[in-house]
Amino acid sequence: MSDKRYRIYLCGGPNCTPKGRDILLRALEDALWTYQLDAVVDVRVSGCQDRCDFAPNMTVWPGPYHYSQLTPDAVRQIVQEHLQGGQPVAIWLSNEAERR
Ligand code: FES
Repeated sequence: MSDKRYRIYLCGGPNCTPKGRDILLRALEDALWTYQLDAVVDVRVSGCQDRCDFAPNMTVWPGPYHYSQLTPDAVRQIVQEHLQGGQPVAIWLSNEAERR
């Protein structure tokens, strides 16, 4: 593990990519910059995270916290509340997505 506080794996698999991976990556990078977290968060694009039915997905470590059915606004909320505030955002977690 690096000296970063968080590591994020944004899914770049075949189902998540066409559902907005590039837009989510831009929203994620913009939000990290806005909240001055870019130096402490490591962002990587992963392969399929095996939750394709709930695409687009990303995973936050330490955790794992699996976030699903993401939108740019959801990503901004996760950066603000989870990465800056330390509180995972329950409504975007995968187990919530499975109930939607
Ligand atoms: S392609 Fe993203 S979970 Fe499968």
